[in-house]
Amino acid sequence: MILTINPGSSLTASKKLRVKDDFSMMTEGVVTAEFWLPSSIGVPKLLKVDLESNRLELIKDALYVREITVVYNRDPYRFPAKNYLYPHNPIHNPNEPRKGCPPHLLIREGAGTLKHHETEDFIIKAREEDMKITHSMVRWNIVKDDSTALLYPGCLDVMKYDKLPRFLKFKEANYNLITELRQRGREEVKIHSLQNMAGKVFGVYKEGRFESFEHYEFYLKQKSNEMGWPKESISEAIKIAKIFRLDEEFGRQMLCGPNALRIRKVTSLETRWAEGAVPGYALEDKTLQDALEEGHLFEVTCDELMDVPHGGGFSKMLTGTQQTWYTVLADCLLYQRSDSKLVPVLIRLENRNDREPATWWTPPEPEITDFNDPKHLAWLFAKMWFRNADINCYALCTHFAQSHATNEVFAVAAYRNLSNAHPILRLLQPHIQGIIPVNVQARAVLVNPGKNAFALFLSAGDNIRIVFHNHYKTFSYEDLILPEDVKKRGVQDIPEYLYRDDTLSHWEVIRAYVGEMVNLAYPSDEDVAQDEELQNFAKDVVDIGFQGYENGAGFPRVVSEREKLIEYITAIVFNISVFHTAVNFQTFTNYSFQPNVPCCMTMPPPNQDSEITMDHILKSLPVLEVTFFAINLANVLGSFSPVERFFLEDHSMNKLGIIGENMAVAPDRRRVSTD
Ligand SMILES: [Fe+2]
Repeated sequence: MILTINPGSSLTASKKLRVKDDFSMMTEGVVTAEFWLPSSIGVPKLLKVDLESNRLELIKDALYVREITVVYNRDPYRFPAKNYLYPHNPIHNPNEPRKGCPPHLLIREGAGTLKHHETEDFIIKAREEDMKITHSMVRWNIVKDDSTALLYPGCLDVMKYDKLPRFLKFKEANYNLITELRQRGREEVKIHSLQNMAGKVFGVYKEGRFESFEHYEFYLKQKSNEMGWPKESISEAIKIAKIFRLDEEFGRQMLCGPNALRIRKVTSLETRWAEGAVPGYALEDKTLQDALEEGHLFEVTCDELMDVPHGGGFSKMLTGTQQTWYTVLADCLLYQRSDSKLVPVLIRLENRNDREPATWWTPPEPEITDFNDPKHLAWLFAKMWFRNADINCYALCTHFAQSHATNEVFAVAAYRNLSNAHPILRLLQPHIQGIIPVNVQARAVLVNPGKNAFALFLSAGDNIRIVFHNHYKTFSYEDLILPEDVKKRGVQDIPEYLYRDDTLSHWEVIRAYVGEMVNLAYPSDEDVAQDEELQNFAKDVVDIGFQGYENGAGFPRVVSEREKLIEYITAIVFNISVFHTAVNFQTFTNYSFQPNVPCCMTMPPPNQDSEITMDHILKSLPVLEVTFFAINLANVLGSFSPVERFFLEDHSMNKLGIIGENMAVAPDRRRVSTD
């Protein structure tokens, strides 16, 4: 490793320091080297890191450089790198990126600085060179300006994980875990396909239908033992299986399940609800108008499925039979009872694809206590159809669009516009580091038109682009500002709304942290306005990330005040961290018992006067192969990274370097980040 302190400074640049140590490629160990430097070098401000090797192509992976500390006059000067270098050898040009790594690193010391605060030429030049190198490695996938194109946010121009720059790939342990989990699931799916094929050849093929809800429960337990799915999640899922038919449990999941951000207060009974009627017993003998005026009516709607054709086009690959997976518009009206419980009181289903009229469903009379009574079964079936629409919106909009695709815009814009020295990049870095690799993998297997895994279990999966377009048509920056979102949906007072309470408290913590960090980096509002790199970041988000969206999806094109910057950065950090966690990590628990939230429905939705039987319900629910696929995917997506920690018991663990990813290395920043 060749280190140069203050390179390019004619007065004080050091000679090249050659550190000939045995760097471990497998672990992230610490290497210490001592040199005596002439005092004329002065305070270390900039560090150039180079790597050389004469071993031609023997090194398989690049070297991860987390941070380099130079001790000068007994004071430590910390240079956070968080990047990879691949050694040059004599036949390669030392100034070109190689094996996905920059040719060398140019790192500014400490907290990072704003460009307009820099006064020394060699530092400004190094900053520009650093940006130039990143620009050559991180590029937008530019979509031509086309007003007819379906809306989707800007992303990196890389479609294959292997083609990513090294610093945008996962750490090895992370990568191996995901690959292993996927592999296990894939083998099971292959076995299903082969069995179906062989069954057809020998005339013994039988569709993998479940015979009862208990059968689904039994399958879940049995498969979890075989596959090693986490026991805690299974036992929670089984608890849900026991009570999923209760309206109170349905209401609880609307407030605390993975898709709990969609509920909003009803402000008008016109249009959507105009033709619906709710019996008095479901509203504690009130009218809908009374309940509305009391502020106790709420709704969850699934408009993102508008104009989405039925799916199931790829069902044969898994199940052995060609199935239609019905995509039906569904809305649910919920009532907050006087005991504070939220319960569904009206469901509206509309099979627009087959031009069927809307149907309306309400809870059975309280006197009917037999769960197998046709009225109970009809209400249960309506709830299943609604939950089917809900999980399609959840998987494609809440999870994939809002907590993956949207966040990639911030990551690409940050890497392309904020140099390594920028304090906001240093703040954002630990949060944005995983988005791009996850999304690039998802682009290859989930949303790739030829290989779309969503189409293997979701009714809307064949037509995800239309769903994304519907989502982004109404998406705006304001949706990411949690306190505004809660107000806009009118759900400030709804009881036992744990999603709101937990996320708001996290929002406040993140806001306070970002507030302190921004105030340390920017002495005044003018500094925000003058920060060329930050303004370019904001411009990129609007002009490229949300190009073609009405008013740039409401994102600020110019940020000129510290308060606005704090809000913006808080929204980004929150959306990447807390929001994703809230919507992702409980899918296995909530969605693995398929009758609770069926991912696809294989029979047409009921007519208004259909008599619903248990047999008909079971014939409409997902078959075994699809059930397996959905559960296994929920397990893969919900697995925690083995090398990242989300919670530290105490500060001493931090000193061990477990969250050494933090680039806020100056003493004042460290105080904020560990307080
Ligand atoms: Fe995710």
